[in-house]
Amino acid sequence: QDSASPLMEQLIFFHDHALLILVMITVLVGYLMFMLFFNSYINRFLLHGQLIEMIWTILPAIILLFIALPSLRLLYLLDEINEPSVTLKSIGHQWYWSYEYSDFNNIEFDSYMIPTNELATDGFRLLDVDNRVVLPMNSQIRILVTAADVIHSWTIPALGVKVDGTPGRLNQTNFFINRPGLFFGQCSEICGANHSFMPIVIESVPVNYFIKWIS
Ligand code: CUA
Repeated sequence: QDSASPLMEQLIFFHDHALLILVMITVLVGYLMFMLFFNSYINRFLLHGQLIEMIWTILPAIILLFIALPSLRLLYLLDEINEPSVTLKSIGHQWYWSYEYSDFNNIEFDSYMIPTNELATDGFRLLDVDNRVVLPMNSQIRILVTAADVIHSWTIPALGVKVDGTPGRLNQTNFFINRPGLFFGQCSEICGANHSFMPIVIESVPVNYFIKWIS
């Protein structure tokens, strides 16, 4: 799905940036390797070359900095918590997710995948769930992830979110959805036989709709 959060946007920018550097290195190394076929390997006086050795040691180190520093920036950006207005807790089970809205009278519910034979004609096979997570758009949302049995992972590509749910631990991250819509995700820790069948559906709605739903 297309990016729907500022964090995913930053992840895409970083991917494109890293890919561009990768393409430049591949083209250069490819050219050099190809040109090796036309080398006669004859040079009576070439024994060493201090200058070129210096250049081809330091230059790759500098190029790596151009990947490392933006990567580090992104890493800290993903971890930044910015006064969340809603906190959602999601708990991984074998094999479904359950959710708790701790800010709102502790509303809690389970969210199971809809089996193919029970799917509506406009449903999304292997992705739709019976109870969707409704969240307000244009708001900072904190998500707490844990698990009840084995390790699961709460992953939604469009929002740039991927957090492991580990028994006995509580992991935290946050995101901001910048448009309404349905955002699908799947578990991404190999958690057993039905690992593929515990999807996540986020229903992003305007804030007043969210308040209506929650009340
Ligand atoms: Cu839960 Cu894989």
